[in-house]
Amino acid sequence: MLELKSVTKRYDISSVPAVLDVNLKVNKGEIFGFIGPNGAGKTTTIKMITGILQPTQGEVFIDGINMKHRPVECKQLFGYVPDNPDIYERLTGAEYLNFMADVYNVPLSDRKERIEKYTEEFGIQAALNQQIKSYSHGMRQKLVITGALIHQPKLWILDEPMVGLDPMSAKLLKDEMREHCKKGNTVFFSTHILEVAEKLCDRVAIIKYGEIAAIGTLDELKMKVSNGDSSLEEVFMKTIKGEFNEEL
Ligand SMILES: Nc1ncnc2c1ncn2[C@@H]1O[C@H](COP(=O)(O)OP(=O)(O)O)[C@@H](O)[C@H]1O
Ligand SMILES: [Mg+2]
Repeated sequence: MLELKSVTKRYDISSVPAVLDVNLKVNKGEIFGFIGPNGAGKTTTIKMITGILQPTQGEVFIDGINMKHRPVECKQLFGYVPDNPDIYERLTGAEYLNFMADVYNVPLSDRKERIEKYTEEFGIQAALNQQIKSYSHGMRQKLVITGALIHQPKLWILDEPMVGLDPMSAKLLKDEMREHCKKGNTVFFSTHILEVAEKLCDRVAIIKYGEIAAIGTLDELKMKVSNGDSSLEEVFMKTIKGEFNEEL
């Protein structure tokens, strides 16, 4: 569903790369967690996947389509929740969601049903006629999440989605991610919250200084690191400290 082939990003020709030679395949129906410390290159990678940034080298494929050659087709296939819900403040929540639905050509009956479902679940329905500038960070985040699901994308990409959400909303989001996958879709998200990754993910990749240091199912990684009896936290610490590095 998603493939990165030798993707590298240098923000500056002379600087060290933010992302270096990343190879990654995310299968259909999977929840895939992209974990790593601050500054590891998660957001940069996600911005290349979503076509916001051009890779310095390498290629991104969404459902087999090359982002570089057919960007609009690729972009129709995914929904994206960025790390910061900076959205058009002067629109009302309802205007924003209808704008998103227009962009993705979602028929009126479908959009009505989806807007109702998600905004009711997330408890933002009553605020839909207010301007977004009056929304709290968490409410904006929930609105962006609803907007990203408005066309029921095959691939749902989220960058640190739990940040700023209260525990109940975080739980709702996790349930939504699971439900989206159950319908046959794919979820790719970054996080530095290991419990979230541990509970949710079918597979994870650990990124360190822009490079993938480990990749696999949680059980596979635990086996590789310490014969199956460690937590993801331990796998993560050992990988980041350099005590474990997969031959990739
Ligand atoms: N716009 C930018 N210009 C220059 N360097 C950047 C820019 N954005 C990120 N970086 C650098 O790229 C590296 C990876 O950052 P980022 O992808 O944001 O990491 P993460 O999301 O894992 O915290 C960091 O060293 C960061 O300082
Ligand atoms: Mg980031």
